[in-house]
Amino acid sequence: MRVFSSVRNSREYTDWVIRELTKYPNVYIFCSSFFFPFLHTHTSVFMANFVSSIPKRLEGKVAIVTGGASGIGASTAALFHLHGARVVIADIQDDLGRALAHKLGNDAIYTHCDVTDEDQITHLVDSAVAELGHLDIMYSNAGVINGDDFQSILDADKEKIERILRVNLVGGLLVAKHAARVMVPNRKGCILFTASACTEVAGIAPYSYTASKFGIVGLTKGLAVEMGLHGIRVNCVSPFGVLTGSAAHDGKTADMFEKMMGHVGNLKGKILTAEDVAKAALYLASDEAAYVSGVNFVVDGGYSVVNPTLSNVRNAPR
Ligand SMILES: NC(=O)c1ccc[n+]([C@@H]2O[C@H](COP(=O)([O-])OP(=O)(O)OC[C@H]3O[C@@H](n4cnc5c(N)ncnc54)[C@H](O)[C@@H]3O)[C@@H](O)[C@H]2O)c1
Repeated sequence: MRVFSSVRNSREYTDWVIRELTKYPNVYIFCSSFFFPFLHTHTSVFMANFVSSIPKRLEGKVAIVTGGASGIGASTAALFHLHGARVVIADIQDDLGRALAHKLGNDAIYTHCDVTDEDQITHLVDSAVAELGHLDIMYSNAGVINGDDFQSILDADKEKIERILRVNLVGGLLVAKHAARVMVPNRKGCILFTASACTEVAGIAPYSYTASKFGIVGLTKGLAVEMGLHGIRVNCVSPFGVLTGSAAHDGKTADMFEKMMGHVGNLKGKILTAEDVAKAALYLASDEAAYVSGVNFVVDGGYSVVNPTLSNVRNAPR
């Protein structure tokens, strides 16, 4: 059981609900009048009133989130849904994806889609349009990283490199192709990718992964030019390290990760979460970013702009 017992404002509570819903697929929100004496005692009434009081920044929009079953994608799917979008969660982790769609309830569906298979992407987009009428937002977020690929170029393994590029880059490109296919006739829409802070600072990710994400930034910019002719915006979000996937559910790993990121991060007192990245995606997907296109939106607390050389010299023993 997890208890949120210090409600100071509705924003804090929203953050907590989204975090719980996306981190723990089996969590049920129980709202107690003991903990929340100033709120409705009946949970469903409370939730209905609470949710309807949130300004809906994606009302009426239809969004697809690839890699939407876990981590950043799951947080974003939940946040888009909370903001009034009808959401298609696309992934290869069917149980997780279905559980999230079920949890979100109305206006959330799960579709199996391996982004390395163009036929599955075609089906994903066509079934979303057939079921929900149109497509406004395509968030191409599915991605993989090879943890054991951090070493020297001399250890580069062709198969691993090709796997990373196939999912992260070729997959992203094909997802964008099929989003464009249905958005261009409507002359509006938004295509969003997840790249990485490794596109702004060297040495923080393996070569193949870095190459795939630089590819995504290049794709974002090139596509923004062609899609601009059709009124479609194209951007990418580039996060710093976030603990996601199955590791996020392991308390020991989470503690270690928090300590490490707290130490290396530029912005002290805050660790980047999947929800923070989701909020950046929400901004880019919403009409608040109506004139924002071709941007690599780095979410790294300033890490990539810091050159520690001078401060290292200043702090060096004399
Ligand atoms: N976590 C980080 O530190 C970090 C930092 C920068 C960028 N990113 C990027 O964020 C995105 C999301 O990653 P995450 O950290 O939330 O990890 P995650 O593992 O929690 O989520 C990735 C999702 O993509 C799905 N996926 C993998 N291969 C797929 C395929 N072929 N077709 C469809 N779905 C597939 C996985 O099943 C998973 O649900 C990725 O593109 C990743 O490269 C992550």
